[in-house]
Order: sequence, then structure tokens, then C-alpha cells
Amino acid sequence: MYKSEQLALNIRQLIENGAWKAHSKLPSLREQSQISGYSLMTVLNAYQELEAQGLVYAKQKSGFYVAERLNQTERPVPSSLSLNAHIQMNSLVFGYLKSIQSADVSPLGSAFPNAELLFNPKLMQILAQHAKRKSSYFSHDHMPPGNYELRTIIANRYCLQGIPTHANDIVITSGALDALNLSLQALTKPGDFILLQETIFYGAWQAAERLGLQVITIPEHPVSGFDLDSFEQALKQYPIKVCWLMLNIHNPIGFSVRDEIKQRIASLLEDYQVYLIEDDVYQELYYGTQKPLPMKYFDRQQRVLHCASFSKTLGSAVRVGWVYAGQFSNAIQHLQLMSTVSASPLLQNTLVDFLSHHHYEKHLRQLRKQLEKHKKVFYQQLKQRLNPTCKIHYYSSGYFLWIELPAYIDGYTIYQLLIQNKIGIAPSQLFRSEQVSQNFIRLNCSFAWNSDIAAALDVLSEVIQQHITQYTHA
Ligand SMILES: Cc1ncc(COP(=O)(O)O)c(C=O)c1O
Repeated sequence: MYKSEQLALNIRQLIENGAWKAHSKLPSLREQSQISGYSLMTVLNAYQELEAQGLVYAKQKSGFYVAERLNQTERPVPSSLSLNAHIQMNSLVFGYLKSIQSADVSPLGSAFPNAELLFNPKLMQILAQHAKRKSSYFSHDHMPPGNYELRTIIANRYCLQGIPTHANDIVITSGALDALNLSLQALTKPGDFILLQETIFYGAWQAAERLGLQVITIPEHPVSGFDLDSFEQALKQYPIKVCWLMLNIHNPIGFSVRDEIKQRIASLLEDYQVYLIEDDVYQELYYGTQKPLPMKYFDRQQRVLHCASFSKTLGSAVRVGWVYAGQFSNAIQHLQLMSTVSASPLLQNTLVDFLSHHHYEKHLRQLRKQLEKHKKVFYQQLKQRLNPTCKIHYYSSGYFLWIELPAYIDGYTIYQLLIQNKIGIAPSQLFRSEQVSQNFIRLNCSFAWNSDIAAALDVLSEVIQQHITQYTHA
């Protein structure tokens, strides 16, 4: 962790604990430098980091102050558990994905990072070499559970994080969604209860709809991201078989849950004998130096099926994913051989070469740096444009910003108005059931700032402003 990150974390804890109240002034840069022993530049970086996270704000010629949003008394009361027995999300997601597909729609609604950042010439060179080899077309080792060398490389990456893993624990899939779907299908039968976070990637809702499952949701905790009390209450109250959770670089909100909370989730999974499907598809897109630990790290009883892919780091053209399936490897392969069968042998072979020669790490370092830079610019630009009643949830990772609009504004209405102007954004209806509030939108901030993006954000802020004006004058 950088020194500035450590300092920002210390200050964040003081704010979250209520030791520093809203609108109180932070020590000046010079004072903080003397207190902490860090250089002025480190302190400035830490303060700017906190500002970007929305935890402090700067007043010109005066200094930095604690922002209002984390003040204990101002926290929204978490909504309660909810049961969703008849999910109908598929048509909405289908319509949405179709609407943003066209090349002339501004890509702020896309779930994928800017393709220019993902394109890697070395990867394409290796792919071209493999495309010329007959063995890439006729080999059989790509069939479930997938190319052994690729599985070994992935297993070694788990070992580096302190998670003992063998190639046989891994099943290669056609992207993370395939891994997630196969895992859920292997662990459930129609009518079973599963637990989701209240706000979750629409793929989870779609899978539950397709498999005829009953969904219990727990609200997000406004500070830590994960509400342990609601989680425990849900496990007590309902016969939950499987949880599908996203605890690192959450899509769409962006938070990563602290290790102490993950540890407690693992104990509760053991106590209640529940399995967890962990969606960790953005795991590599952290900023700084510390890769967040997956739930798999805390999994002593082999209850976690950890799913991830290369799609968010190398692009949708390299749709290869995997599941740490462990004891469920066979069950998942059975389902795979009846459905998606295998990821392309050409891509699996290419990835083996690309990963074994350490090109991936270099690519990831550059990607993370660019994403951080772009997201900070988006945040600053949005702060200047949006009415201050809109809250921008900034987290130091990934490439999404989650924007909370005033309670009377509906995310889907904003989406509909913007898509008429060829601007795509993702409304909260894609991620949350109709039983909960829908005044949120997600923006993809992985793009370099340019006049088209500026114009799109101008229209976005105008549309929101019109709603605010109408409401306040009504
Ligand atoms: C949270 C989350 N999980 C899973 C997926 C699917 O990943 P893949 O493209 O590797 O199938 C996505 C894609 O947008 C996602 O956002």
C-alpha cells in the first residue's frame, strides 16, 4: 500500500468512527505532515484521495473539511430483507442491452472497460501465431475442465494469494457469466431459496429467473457495503441454500468489503451450512498495490465457488473465465457438456503463452493506472455539473460511478430520456428489484475525457436538473 493510501485509510477510519464530525476542518497539510511524519506531497495525495471518495471536500484558500455523507445521523436507514418469488428481469435487461449496442450510442452504460485500454498488441501477436498452428484446432485438452496448463497458471495465481489450489480445482468456462450460471445450476433446484445483495449484477437476477429460484435480498450497508446483521437474519429466517455475492469492486456500486467482514461471512456460511457463489470478475481492477482478498481465502470448509474471467481485463473478445469448483468440478463439467461445452481452444492456448511470459501483469498495471486516472476526471467533472443533491459514490477501484439521485427521480426515466439522445447509462432497475428505491444510475468512467463525453455529461446533468426544478416548483 502507498503511504498516501495508508494515511487516507487512517483518516477514513476516524471519519467513519465518528471521531471527526461532518464539516469539521482537517489538520492543514503542514500540521498533518508534522503529526503523521509523512511528506507534504503524501498528505496532499491522501487528502485528494479522500476528496475523490466523497469523504472530504476542499474549500478554496481554507483547507479540507469532513463531508456530510458519512455522518452517522445522516445515514440512510437500511431497508429490510425482501422476498422475490417471481422475478421478471430478463426482458428489461434484453431491451437495455439492445438499446446501447449501436455504435452511435455514447458508451457510458456499457459494462465493459474502454476497448482501447484492453487491446494488447502482444496478446494479438500470440493469438496470430496460434491461429497458424493446426494443433490449436485439433487438440482436445480444451474440453472440460479445460486446458491443463491454463488451469495450472490460474491455480498458481490463487496460491500466490495464500489460497492452496490445484489445477483440478479449476474448471475453465466461456467467461465469468458461464461460470456463475453453471455453479448456480449445479447447486440448486427450482423453488430453492438463494440470497443476493439488494443491488447486484443483473446476471444474478436473470439466472434466478431462468432456474425458477426464490430470492431473498439483503440491503447494502451504507458504510461497509455489506450488512452482516441482515445477512445473519436472512440465514436464520429462510432455508437459504446458496448465496451469490460480490464483495470486491462491486458492480454497480464499487465498494470492496473489509477482510474482517469477509471472515465473519465465512463463519456464518459454516454455521448455517450454506454455499457461496462468489462473483469476483473485477478482482484485478484495484488501484494501489493491494489486491483485495476473495472470500475463497477465508473458506475452510470448501463452501465457496469463486468465479472470475479475463473479459474485464483483456476484453470480450477473450471471453474465457473459470470457476474454482473444488468438489463440484464434476457436477459443473456435466452441465457444461450439455450447454456451453468449452471456451475456444485457440483462446485457451493463447492465454497460456500470454500469461506464462508475464505480459499480463504489465498489462494490468497499465490498465489500473488508466482506469484510476479516467475515473478521477469523471468524478471531478460530474461534481462540477450535477446538482449537489445528487450523491456520487466514489470508490478507489474499477471504472464505475454509482450516482444517487434525489429520491423522487427514477433512474429508468433518466435512462429513457438519454437514450433518445444516443447516450447510454445503466439505470438501477437493472440491478435492483422493483420492491426497493430506484433513484440510481451507473456510469462507465473508463474513457479518456473528450468533447463527446463532456457533451454527454452536460445533457445528463441538464436532464437531471430539469427533474429537480420541476419537482421543487411543483
Ligand atoms: C459483475 C459481473 N459479473 C459477471 C459478468 C460476466 O463476465 P463475463 O463477461 O466474463 O462473462 C459481468 C459482465 O459484465 C459483471 O459485470
